[in-house]
Amino acid sequence: MRFRNIFTILCCIFVGFTASAQVKLETPALETIYNRTSIRSYSSEKVEKDAILTLLRAGMSAPSAVNKQPWAFMVIDDRDLMEKIGNEFKNAGMIKKASCAIIVCGDLKLALEGVAQEFWVQDCSAATENILLAAHSMGLGAVWCGVYPNPERVEALKALLSLPEHIVPLNIIPIGVREKEQEPKDKWKEDRIHWNKW
Ligand SMILES: Cc1cc2nc3c(=O)[nH]c(=O)nc-3n(C[C@H](O)[C@H](O)[C@H](O)COP(=O)(O)O)c2cc1C
Repeated sequence: MRFRNIFTILCCIFVGFTASAQVKLETPALETIYNRTSIRSYSSEKVEKDAILTLLRAGMSAPSAVNKQPWAFMVIDDRDLMEKIGNEFKNAGMIKKASCAIIVCGDLKLALEGVAQEFWVQDCSAATENILLAAHSMGLGAVWCGVYPNPERVEALKALLSLPEHIVPLNIIPIGVREKEQEPKDKWKEDRIHWNKW
C-alpha cells in the first residue's frame, strides 16, 4: 500500500515535470516579439533578394480565415518609385531611405464572400506582423505604414502602382538594415486583462 502511494506521488511529479517542461516561457520567438519595434531609419546596406523572399515566406505563413490566403505582395526596390511613394505618402516618407518596401495587399478575388470578405484585413494584418517579426529577427528594421482604410491613400497608391481593381493595398512596409538597436516600448498593462468576468 505504502509502495503504491509512493509510486503514485512519483508518477504525479514526473507527469507535472514533463508537462511544465514542454511549456517554455523564454524562447527566441518570444524574444523577437518582445523586442520588435518600428524602425524608421536604415543603413545604406542593401537587403538582398534572398532576405526579401524570406520575409515573404514569413508573411505567407500567417493564418487566414478558412485558409483563403487572400493576399498579394508587391516588392518595391526601384529608387525612382520609392522616391515617388515617399513624396506622395508623407506617413511613409522613410521609404526614401529604405532598401526596399513590401506593399501588403488584399486580393478581393481570393477573399471570402459576403460579410466575411472583410476578413482579408485581418488575414493581411497577420501576414504583415509576421513580416515585421521576421525582419526584426533577421537584423532588419521595418515599419507598418497604414494605407487601408484611408480611401484617399488607397486610391492614390492604386493609381501610382496601376493596381487592378480587386487589389487593395493595406500598408507599405519600408525595410532596411537596422543601423542601431532601438529600445522597444513597454506596453504591458495589467488593467487590459479580464479573467472570466469584466
Ligand atoms: C495599422 C497601423 C498603421 C500604422 N501607420 C503608420 C504610418 O503611417 N507611419 C508610421 O511611421 N508608423 C505607422 N505605424 C506604426 C506605429 O506608429 C507603431 O507601431 C506604434 O507607434 C507602436 O510602436 P512600435 O511598433 O515601435 O511598437 C502604424 C502601425 C499600425 C499597426
